[in-house]
Amino acid sequence: MKNKRLIGVLIGLALVIIAVLGYQSVTKKETKTTSATTVKVGVLQFVTHEALDEIYRGIKAGLEEEGYSGDKLKIDFLNAEGDQSKVQTMSQKLVANQNDVLIGIATPAAQGLASATKEIPIIMGAVTDPVGAKLVKSLDQPGGNITGVSDKTPIKAQVELIKELTPNVKTVGVIYSSSEDNSKSQVEEFKTLAEKAGLEVVVKSVPSTNEIKTTSEVLLSQVDAVWVPLDNTIASAFSTLVQVAKEAKKPIYPSVDTMVEEGGLASVVIDQYQLGVETGKMAAKVLKGEDVSTLPVNVFDEGTPVYNEEVAKELGITLPEK
Ligand code: TRP
Repeated sequence: MKNKRLIGVLIGLALVIIAVLGYQSVTKKETKTTSATTVKVGVLQFVTHEALDEIYRGIKAGLEEEGYSGDKLKIDFLNAEGDQSKVQTMSQKLVANQNDVLIGIATPAAQGLASATKEIPIIMGAVTDPVGAKLVKSLDQPGGNITGVSDKTPIKAQVELIKELTPNVKTVGVIYSSSEDNSKSQVEEFKTLAEKAGLEVVVKSVPSTNEIKTTSEVLLSQVDAVWVPLDNTIASAFSTLVQVAKEAKKPIYPSVDTMVEEGGLASVVIDQYQLGVETGKMAAKVLKGEDVSTLPVNVFDEGTPVYNEEVAKELGITLPEK
């Protein structure tokens, strides 16, 4: 009888202990998930070139400004190195990794992410023509899981710069990549505005970086100067074009400061780092709960003139005082 009682008490005690331990482990798990404030951001960069690297640095700064850094943020970064098949597999990987937000740096990267998911929000990092690239329905009302930042270059100001610095230029060559949707609309706009300003325009496209050398040699034998859009393929092998233009003693007018530094003559440009900062801040807005489908695309289109003094000297071109 006494023993039975004792056993009963012991069993009761054991049950209490099991219940307490069980409860503790449940609450521990609960606090673990609710205190998990780490957000996961997947970033896909299309290719390596100075401007896109600068944009990525800006993205990290923009996220940090909004409180996402250190152990609050896990960045899943991939670079497709200009390879379309890598764009696809890497996009699928970033989706499979269950990132909270995805960022595509440059048009082909944003397009790759767009075809990999219709659910996870995507932020475009520096996409020149989001509508033409079929990424959003309109800039004001994106309408799907994609919004972001557009770097619409100030092409009119670039045409005026060509006329101002090199009034003797009559024919301008354009070189761009036929596989980039971002370049098409820029080339059309340049052609229209340059012809309006009395310039003759010769357009040539390349399927990949391999053809840049021969195509630029042909182009530079036909024109007085070359204009280059925001084209990732040309940007990633820009030194090839610079070499050919140097030998022909003709100026290159690119669309970004990084290409002016690498041997272009002059341009009117948008700050690449700032584009990145705004991209990062937009990603933060979406992480904080804003609806991506109604968040308007942030369009950058006002530029600052930049010059390469060394190139101007070599070509005997006088730069404005400032
Ligand atoms: N706007 C380009 C795109 O839509 C990407 C880009 C940003 C870029 N900065 C650049 C390309 C500078 C060439 C040079 O893909």
